[in-house]
Amino acid sequence: MITIAPSILSADFANLGRDVQRVREADWLHVDVMDGMFVSNISIGVPVVKSLRKFTDQFLDVHLMIEKPVRYVDAFADAGADLLTVHLEADMPPGIQAALAAMERRGVRKGIALRPITAAEAVLPYLDKVDLILVMTVEPGFGGQAFMADQLPKIAAIRRYIQERNPACRLEVDGGVDPVTARQVVEAGADVLVAGSAIYGAPDPAQAIRALRGE
Ligand code: DX5
Ligand code: ZN
Repeated sequence: MITIAPSILSADFANLGRDVQRVREADWLHVDVMDGMFVSNISIGVPVVKSLRKFTDQFLDVHLMIEKPVRYVDAFADAGADLLTVHLEADMPPGIQAALAAMERRGVRKGIALRPITAAEAVLPYLDKVDLILVMTVEPGFGGQAFMADQLPKIAAIRRYIQERNPACRLEVDGGVDPVTARQVVEAGADVLVAGSAIYGAPDPAQAIRALRGE
């Protein structure tokens, strides 16, 4: 089963409730948190997750593009995040392990993300402890960028690791996903697709979600 996770980074934040309603047929909602340090952009944080939790039953998939994310695990867990994804480049390995341990304690699903430069093998020390691996197919920081096809072999390699070592782990792809690139990443082994501009830039977001599922 393919899960579609609309990225609200492409929504109109002055009309966020309306824009969340528009994608209610998607099971997940992807929330991009940026601190102006790990990435150059600044987006949204804990209060927005808290408001979304009151507004929707959708699974809140929170992508933390922040330095030393262990500092914020409790705050996002309290706010109602279902899954927290931390970047392997955002701290030293003990810090990443501590963030995953904090998520485990809080009963929040655990994800790790890789920038395009980071090799597939980097997931191996964490693979048996995580619920999701996120492969970035753009440089994190902004929506609306072009899909990096050179990441497809990495997606395929991580799918092989997952099959061998943790078959329940989900494999998410984020960046430049549209109906054409969606087929390529699913073929390579992805089963969760994040899309911002392909959904919110479409005249009918619900139809765009179906198109991403290949319906
Ligand atoms: C980028 C974010 C993405 C972004 C994707 O750093 O992680 O989730 O919203 O936007 P599109 O689908 O437009 O590439
Ligand atoms: Zn994201």
